[in-house]
Amino acid sequence: MLFLPSCLLSAGVVATFAFALVARAVPNTDASVQTRRSLESTIPKLVVARHLVGLTGGGGSGDYVKDTWENDMTLAFSKGIDAFALSVGADGFTHQQVDLAYTAAENLRLGFTVFLSLDMDAIDLSYNCNDSSTADYIRNLTSTYMGRSSQLLINNKALVSTVSGGNCTLGADTPTKGWATQFAQHPDLLERIYFVPAFAIDPESFVNFSGVMNGDFNFNASWQMNLTANATGYSEDLGQLSGLGMTVQQQDALFGLLNYTFDSDERHIQGLANATHNNQSLYMTSVSPWFFTHFEPPLDKNLIYDCDDHLFVRRWQNIIDHRDQVDIVQLLSWNDYGESHYMGPIEGNIPQEAEAWTLGYDHQGTVRVHFIIFFAPRD
Ligand SMILES: *[C@@H]1O[C@H](CO)[C@@H](O)[C@H](O)[C@H]1NC(C)=O
Ligand SMILES: *[C@@H]1O[C@H](CO)[C@@H](O)[C@H](O)[C@H]1NC(C)=O
Ligand SMILES: *[C@@H]1O[C@H](CO)[C@@H](O)[C@H](O)[C@H]1NC(C)=O
Ligand SMILES: *[C@@H]1O[C@H](CO)[C@@H](O)[C@H](O)[C@H]1NC(C)=O
Ligand SMILES: *[C@@H]1O[C@H](CO)[C@@H](O)[C@H](O)[C@H]1NC(C)=O
Ligand SMILES: *[C@@H]1O[C@H](CO)[C@@H](O)[C@H](O)[C@H]1NC(C)=O
Ligand SMILES: *[C@@H]1O[C@H](CO)[C@@H](O)[C@H](O)[C@H]1NC(C)=O
Ligand SMILES: *[C@@H]1O[C@H](CO)[C@@H](O)[C@H](O)[C@H]1NC(C)=O
Ligand SMILES: *[C@@H]1O[C@H](CO)[C@@H](O)[C@H](O)[C@H]1NC(C)=O
Ligand SMILES: *[C@@H]1O[C@H](CO)[C@@H](O)[C@H](O)[C@H]1NC(C)=O
Repeated sequence: MLFLPSCLLSAGVVATFAFALVARAVPNTDASVQTRRSLESTIPKLVVARHLVGLTGGGGSGDYVKDTWENDMTLAFSKGIDAFALSVGADGFTHQQVDLAYTAAENLRLGFTVFLSLDMDAIDLSYNCNDSSTADYIRNLTSTYMGRSSQLLINNKALVSTVSGGNCTLGADTPTKGWATQFAQHPDLLERIYFVPAFAIDPESFVNFSGVMNGDFNFNASWQMNLTANATGYSEDLGQLSGLGMTVQQQDALFGLLNYTFDSDERHIQGLANATHNNQSLYMTSVSPWFFTHFEPPLDKNLIYDCDDHLFVRRWQNIIDHRDQVDIVQLLSWNDYGESHYMGPIEGNIPQEAEAWTLGYDHQGTVRVHFIIFFAPRD
C-alpha cells in the first residue's frame, strides 16, 4: 500500500511527472561495462509488448475479433512497438485467438510481428508441467504457428519465449533434460526455434541449460522488488512513508537511496554468456510503469512493486545507457489489467476484481514513444 497514491495518478499527470524528471542527473553508468555485441550481430534491436491472450477470449463481452487485434497492432506499431509477445496459457480459446493474432499481423502488412510467450504458470493450471502432456501441448502450439509469415524470426528461427518453467521437468528426470529433449532439441522444433525463456531461476544455473537457451528474458528486471520500508533505512512506520504527506523532493530523496542499477541485467547477461559460450546471444529485458494487484482469497494476490519515477525514466535511461548489451525490450505490459501494468487501451475481458483499479484509469500515456524510437529506431 506504501506508494499507492502516486501509482494511481492519472496517466496525464504521470506523463508530466515523468517528463519533469528527464532533466535530472542520469544515474552513474558502470565504466567497466564491456561492449557485448560485435558489429556483425545479426540480432535486431526491437521493442515488443506483452499481450495476454488469456484476456481476449472465453465468451466475455470483451472477446477479441480480428479487428480488435488489428486495431491493437496498428496502435502499437504507431508507437514504435515492433511485435506482441503473445502470452499464452492453456485456455479453450487459446488456439483460436493466437490464430487470429497471427492472421491480423499478416493482414496488416506493416511488418508488425508476433511470437509465443509460454506462460508456464498459467499452463500449469491445466496441465502438470512435470508431465509429458505439457510438453505435447507447448510443442503443438509452437509448431502450429512457427511457420506463419507474421512470426518474429531471429536468425531465421521462430522466437519462442516463456515466463517461468525452469522447474518443470516436462516428463523427463530433470528440468534440464526435459527442456532439451522434449522441447528445444525435440525433432519437431530443433533448428526451427530460437528459444529465449524467462526461467525464474538464478542466472548461475543458466549454465545447466546449455543447448536449450538461445537467449534469456529477464522478466522481473522492470521492478524494484526489494524496495521496502526497511530497505530505505527510514523507519518501519509505514505511516511516515505513505507518500501522502511527502513532497516530490522527499520521495525522490527516499527513492534515491536505492540507486537503481543494471545489476540484475548484468547477472543475467553473464549467466547467459556462460550458458551459450558466447556474448552474442539474445538478451531481452523489460520495462514496466509499475505493478499493483489486490485479489481477495482464494487467489489472494496482493503485491505492489513501487511506481517511483525510475520505472519510467531512469529504467529507460539505464537501458539506453547499456544499449549495446540489450537486444529486445519487452514492455510489461500491453493489457495486464490484473497486475495494473497495462499500457494499451482498456478492452478485452478484464478480470472482475481488477475492474476496481482499471476502469477509469487509462494508462496510454505510459507508452513513451521517444524512448522506444531511441532504443530501436525504424529505418
Ligand atoms: C515439478 O518438479 C520440480 C522438481 O523438479 C518441483 O520443484 C516442482 O514443484 C514440480 N512442479 C509441479 C507442478 O509438480
Ligand atoms: C496440434 O494438436 C491438434 C489437436 O490434437 C492437431 O489437430 C494438430 O494437428 C496438432 N498440430 C501439430 C502441428 O502438431
Ligand atoms: C525451483 O526449484 C528450486 C530448487 O528446487 C527452488 O529453490 C525454487 O523455489 C523453485 N522455484 C519455483 C518457482 O518453484
Ligand atoms: C519474478 O519474481 C517473483 C517474485 O519474487 C517470482 O515469484 C517469479 O518467479 C519471478 N519470475 C520470473 C520469471 O523470474
Ligand atoms: C559465469 O562464469 C564465471 C566463470 O566461470 C563465473 O565466475 C560467474 O559466477 C558465472 N556467472 C553467472 C551469473 O553464472
Ligand atoms: C545446476 O548445476 C549445478 C552444478 O553444475 C548444480 O549444483 C545445480 O543444482 C544445478 N541446478 C539446477 C537447477 O539443475
Ligand atoms: C525491518 O528491520 C528491522 C530492524 O532491522 C527488523 O527487526 C524487522 O524484522 C525488519 N522487518 C521486515 C519486514 O523485514
Ligand atoms: C535490490 O536488489 C538488487 C538486485 O538484486 C540489488 O543489487 C540491490 O542491492 C538490492 N537493494 C537493496 C536495497 O536491497
Ligand atoms: C547510493 O549512491 C550514493 C552516491 O554514490 C551513495 O552514497 C549511497 O551509499 C548509495 N546507496 C546505496 C543504498 O547503495
Ligand atoms: C563475454 O564478454 C566478457 C567481457 O568482454 C568476457 O570477459 C567474457 O569472457 C565473454 N564470455 C564469453 C563466453 O565469451
